[in-house]
Amino acid sequence: MTQVIRLDPALPRQEAIDLGASIIRDGGLVAFPTETVYGLGADAMNETAVQKLFRAKRRPADNPLIVHVSDRDMLDSVAAGVTPQGERLIGRFWPGPLTLVLKRQPEVARSVSAGLPSVAVRMPSNKIALELIKSARTPIAAPSGNASGRPSPTIAAHVLEDLGDRVDLIFDGGPTSIGIESTVLDLTTEPPMILRPGAVTREMLMEIIGRVDQATSGEHLGRSPGTRHQHYSPRARVLLVEHDSPESIELICRERLTEGAVGFIGHTRAAIDDDEFFVIEVGSADDYARALYGALRELDQKGARVIVVEGISEDGKGAAVMDRLRRAASEVIE
Ligand code: TXA
Ligand code: MG
Repeated sequence: MTQVIRLDPALPRQEAIDLGASIIRDGGLVAFPTETVYGLGADAMNETAVQKLFRAKRRPADNPLIVHVSDRDMLDSVAAGVTPQGERLIGRFWPGPLTLVLKRQPEVARSVSAGLPSVAVRMPSNKIALELIKSARTPIAAPSGNASGRPSPTIAAHVLEDLGDRVDLIFDGGPTSIGIESTVLDLTTEPPMILRPGAVTREMLMEIIGRVDQATSGEHLGRSPGTRHQHYSPRARVLLVEHDSPESIELICRERLTEGAVGFIGHTRAAIDDDEFFVIEVGSADDYARALYGALRELDQKGARVIVVEGISEDGKGAAVMDRLRRAASEVIE
């Protein structure tokens, strides 16, 4: 049985943290909350532990992991070539939801980088995560703690649902505050390139270092192998309605109800009185980010055949939310 320990993220109990740290040091797997989503952690310097992690998630071996560090020395032990731009970004956004792709140090377990000469690194701000890394005294490789292809976990129960007894210990620190994964910024290219949008937006990055590109074309996406794989998918079919679509949400939902139960995630009121129609209302982009993955899982559990998601404007954090909606969707109405 997987052990689940409930912790207050403001003041995690040291003896629990030390237990998690000893499991990591012994080559085990510990799931823990970060400010973005829950991660599944293993010692980033231990190849056997990292391979166990790939197996537990059923993650394709060509999709590299993010290494989590708790201080500057630890960063230098896994990555080299931090540019002056990198230094400024670290000063401004760490600890926090920004992952930097840097030159990899040879001591990092090989499969962490999936054969790439680079390594992705971030310093999380969630105290449970930070204290766990500190106590383990080793960098922790941690992908999101979902089974590969499923929506990322935003509560401990999602990890348990997907990975059950394939994890040694789960720290339950309540719901994560941001709800979608970190921004991934490649600093090995000039100009730096966003491989995955997140809560640290392009505008925020440009304010600190000037020009930053957003990867869009197939060639650029090839740099972040994870973006090639199927992602964020519930079992139901997801239908994305772009936010400026002229088609009425209510009409679309009514039509889909002829196929079976329908879930709707969005801000427009759909006045449909039907036992098979489930609504999860989201307002701002922040709200949407926090609620999205849990909502997809919940609607799956309710038996929705189709989940209609309403797009939002791509301003600020909206870009990251739209990125996840597009990846989850199998159909788009523009
Ligand atoms: O918020 C987050 O980043 C969460 C929490 C747990 O920290 N982690 C997370 O990990 O989302 P994961 O494995 O689900 O996503 C890692 C992403 C993938 O898209 C992967 O391809 C990319 O980072 N990545 C990792 N290493 C890379 C590298 N060396 N070069 C380019 N992309 C890399
Ligand atoms: Mg993931």
